[in-house]
Amino acid sequence: MDANDIAVDLVSDTATRPSPGMLQAMTSARLGDEQKGEDPTVRALEERAADLLGTESALFVPSATMANQIALSLHAKPGDEIICHRTAHVYNYETGGTAITAAAQLHVLDTPRGIFTGEDVTRAVRADYPHLSDTCAVVVENTSNGGGGTVWPDAAFDSVLEVCRTRDIALHIDGARLCNAAAAAQVEPSHWGARADTVQLCFSKGLGCPFGAVLGLPQGMWRAARRRKQSLGGALRQGGVIAGAMLYALEHNRPKLVDDHRRAAALAEALAELPGLSLAPPETNLVFFRLSAGGELDAGAFCRRLLDEHSVRMAPTIDGRVRACFHLDVDDQGLARAIAGVRAILG
Ligand SMILES: Cc1ncc(COP(=O)(O)O)c(C=O)c1O
Repeated sequence: MDANDIAVDLVSDTATRPSPGMLQAMTSARLGDEQKGEDPTVRALEERAADLLGTESALFVPSATMANQIALSLHAKPGDEIICHRTAHVYNYETGGTAITAAAQLHVLDTPRGIFTGEDVTRAVRADYPHLSDTCAVVVENTSNGGGGTVWPDAAFDSVLEVCRTRDIALHIDGARLCNAAAAAQVEPSHWGARADTVQLCFSKGLGCPFGAVLGLPQGMWRAARRRKQSLGGALRQGGVIAGAMLYALEHNRPKLVDDHRRAAALAEALAELPGLSLAPPETNLVFFRLSAGGELDAGAFCRRLLDEHSVRMAPTIDGRVRACFHLDVDDQGLARAIAGVRAILG
């Protein structure tokens, strides 16, 4: 299957293609050798990102996965334990990366909608005993993808932060969709970023870049993070080609995230009227729903029919739900086509 032939691709916000304006920003960016610290557009991006995230500095990296792995490998020493949610990207989708780059193990929490509290963390922190790992870090994923695109409420975030500060544990934010969280909560990403030890922001999700991420961190960690990026093969040459797209995305695409959220809410409203499925109202650009057990279709069969009969792609999840993800390349017409397709199959 060629993804270009799909009329409405809701499989992921990573499906976006660079727009003509973004391509223009890429071709006109001022360039230099990024590995030598000589690319002016990368330097401009890092300054802008630090400002956005409320951190002392920021490091440009090719991907969100690499940003997470660099951060966790700097927070951990071999044998340490990192706390995260059971649905977290660092636990499920980074090929066991923390075992390789950080030589650390993960301690997962099972709480509703991907959100946990300081009390949950306190229960998970290991006692100071020779048999046990040291707990070195907590990962907060905001928005929580597997949790349903949920935004971390202040009470939960503040309580986790307090435990981290009291117990000398680092707080890392996997903010692949932190701009979505910020748009929904009507705050700046620095609302969370300024209080974390490290924070990752991805540009290839709702912000619409072909790749690229940044890691916000204290100035004192920048050199070590830069060296780790080099050892992982993440240092580029004329990185400004992508940094130009990332700066463009902050200016032109970030304000459009609210449209993705509006369309997600509209799909959820239409779904709620149909029999045989359950869903929680979306908070951002992700809509998850479950087809009733014992019904004619499971998530995989439903997604196949939606694609084959209506050219609308949604994704079955590993826990048997269906995920629809709104992004820049799906407009109101695409939304209408998705709703019509779902109604035709389930209505
Ligand atoms: C929450 C979260 N973190 C990190 C990533 C990693 O992004 P990438 O695959 O672009 O490195 C993803 C990707 O979907 C994600 O959803």
